[in-house]
Amino acid sequence: MRTWSQMIKVSPSILSANFNELGADVKRLEQCGADYIHIDVMDGHFVPNITLGSVVMSRLREVTSLPLDVHLMISQPAAFIEDFIKAGAAILTVQYESTVHLDRLISQVRSLGAKPSVAINPATPIELIFPVLSIVDQVLIMTVNPGFAGQRFIPYCMDKIAALKKKLGELNLHVDIQVDGGVTETNAASLINAGVDVLVAGSTVFQSKNMAETISRLKQG
Ligand code: DX5
Ligand code: ZN
Repeated sequence: MRTWSQMIKVSPSILSANFNELGADVKRLEQCGADYIHIDVMDGHFVPNITLGSVVMSRLREVTSLPLDVHLMISQPAAFIEDFIKAGAAILTVQYESTVHLDRLISQVRSLGAKPSVAINPATPIELIFPVLSIVDQVLIMTVNPGFAGQRFIPYCMDKIAALKKKLGELNLHVDIQVDGGVTETNAASLINAGVDVLVAGSTVFQSKNMAETISRLKQG
């Protein structure tokens, strides 16, 4: 269950923003109560879509003081983490499935000054990331198959959230649990009750009539 001290954060994904007005949309998110700005980086190889790189991201760094929450969905994360951290990433998430040297990548992210985070795809067993829980600041549980905004939440991922929460309790570790994909005002409460700390939301935030109210309602669950 949600504890009294649990502060829920909302990290809106700019994948659903107006790319013609990206800077303005990021400023609007900050004014509307977003906690982080979620930046989805896709390479057309690890996932079947291409988005943006560190050059564009560095310009977004100039328009907001919110932490940039960078989600790398790319095949060669080792080649790019330094660029993204230099460009202003505060949290740097790498996909478990994108590297055979996860421990090394996590250590590099921390030594470069960002918070390391690991993401796991819906069909990947959660137990596979248990060995690195003591060296990350966040785990991102993908609740859709990565690549696109506006997909439907995959229900079996709820079990993974619960299993991760239980394991973190057993290890007495404070690691944020982030979920990404298909998050709505309807499922936010059950996600928070399962132990989620950070809700990523793309279409729910950008398609709402009142962004500030939607972000506030997501946080309340
Ligand atoms: C999907 C991305 C998500 C996506 C979420 O691969 O990682 O961050 O933008 O979009 P919604 O909230 O619309 O599912
Ligand atoms: Zn994402």
